[in-house]
Amino acid sequence: MTSVTAARLASILGTWRSASPAYAALADRIRLVIADGRVAHGARLPAERDLAAALQVSRTTVAAAYARLRELGTIESRQGSGSYVSPGSRPAAGDSALAVAFDLTKAALPAANAVGECFRIAAGNIGPELSGSGYEIVGHPALRLAIAEHYRGRGVPTDPEQIVVTSGAQHAIALLTRLLVSPGDRALIEQPTYPHAIDALLAVRARPVPLPVTPDWGWDLVEAESALRNAAPVLGYVMPDFQNPTGASLSDEDRAKLARAADRHGTVLIADETTMWLDLGRGPRAPLAKASPSVVTVGSLGKLAWGGLRVGWIRESRNLVTRHVQARTSMDLGTPVFEQLVAVELLHREEQLVAERRAQLAHGLEALRSSVAENFPDWQLPACDGGLALWLNCAPWSSSELVLAAQEEGLALTAGPRFGLHGAFESRLRLPFTDAPVTVTAAVQALRRAADRRASGTVKEPLVAV
Ligand SMILES: Cc1ncc(COP(=O)(O)O)c(C=O)c1O
Repeated sequence: MTSVTAARLASILGTWRSASPAYAALADRIRLVIADGRVAHGARLPAERDLAAALQVSRTTVAAAYARLRELGTIESRQGSGSYVSPGSRPAAGDSALAVAFDLTKAALPAANAVGECFRIAAGNIGPELSGSGYEIVGHPALRLAIAEHYRGRGVPTDPEQIVVTSGAQHAIALLTRLLVSPGDRALIEQPTYPHAIDALLAVRARPVPLPVTPDWGWDLVEAESALRNAAPVLGYVMPDFQNPTGASLSDEDRAKLARAADRHGTVLIADETTMWLDLGRGPRAPLAKASPSVVTVGSLGKLAWGGLRVGWIRESRNLVTRHVQARTSMDLGTPVFEQLVAVELLHREEQLVAERRAQLAHGLEALRSSVAENFPDWQLPACDGGLALWLNCAPWSSSELVLAAQEEGLALTAGPRFGLHGAFESRLRLPFTDAPVTVTAAVQALRRAADRRASGTVKEPLVAV
């Protein structure tokens, strides 16, 4: 069971005060960070006295906030052993919980048109596999070959033996962090970043070292060089193309610089290419793996084809593949064969899928831009040439406040700090454009109503899990 120290909780909570009474604002914020995964279900919370000292508030405020959370079923207090986040805490039945009409917490598209057809083709092709054992820890040979060909097509010579098929990119990231990180090791990670990459690093008790990325300026390579030199991280996790959530892409020149710097300092770079295909006009760039043989690449069909397929992969050295086989068996014994056959068919339709995604995302982005311009004329719209979302500066609002208020309008969003470490990004909001234009527009209108309620102080107790 994990414990959250008072200092860590204070840093996760960030600037939590609002127009509500302090105890209510604190309770709201604690519920938000539990609901969006920054504090795990089952975790032990700090003692009231310690949290009060860390937040510089009275113990009565924390006691009242904890009492409120107990009332709502969010936490449980056990005599003599402290307060714990209730396992699977959700609004209790009978609460006036509001339905989530728009779930923008996941920046994900529905299945591409070709997915159904590829399932049918794979069903017709599966015959020979059925007479084998079905256990292919590193993946089906046909899929490993198709993935290797994909890299060759992008100018990176790749042998199928360098490919490990996984059950999605998240599985790949978890396998890699388990393999490469020992507790206490440092790991370079973009700020902001994909939240579940932070989770994977914290799960193996890595010490994250931040590498700033912004939509306008991209990666701070001076900072990267100094972090690599001073912290000697064992790995660096980066998204070179249409970074989630900023949408930024590394230039070809910066890819080479970053890979060289990582090599100089003995850091293994993990290039997560899950969002690589979501190009709205930027044009192809060389894979990071082209810059150095030590770069490990993570790929997935989750965004190009469908998240529900759960097929991803790792491209790495043969040596690492061997270590993966040994490390993986404690966790799982391979990715389902049928989905791998579907993935082979999908990779053969790459161009068609890319064109479909481009059209969908372009419409979503247009709807997001025009509805934000109309409803939040003070917000600056960053340039965007691909990806899943806009990473907006939502000042003067606090992102967490907006997210809490949005729940009352049936809109679920992820607050900016979920994408960072230590409560950063409270002035940022990720708005995905992966939904249909009409949904995107309705969601932004709901956000406007939420902001107005927040401004007029009429936000009620939010009761929907984020
Ligand atoms: C950057 C990034 N990596 C990995 C994933 C997870 O992908 P998969 O569904 O293949 O596990 C996502 C999903 O949103 C993502 O945005």
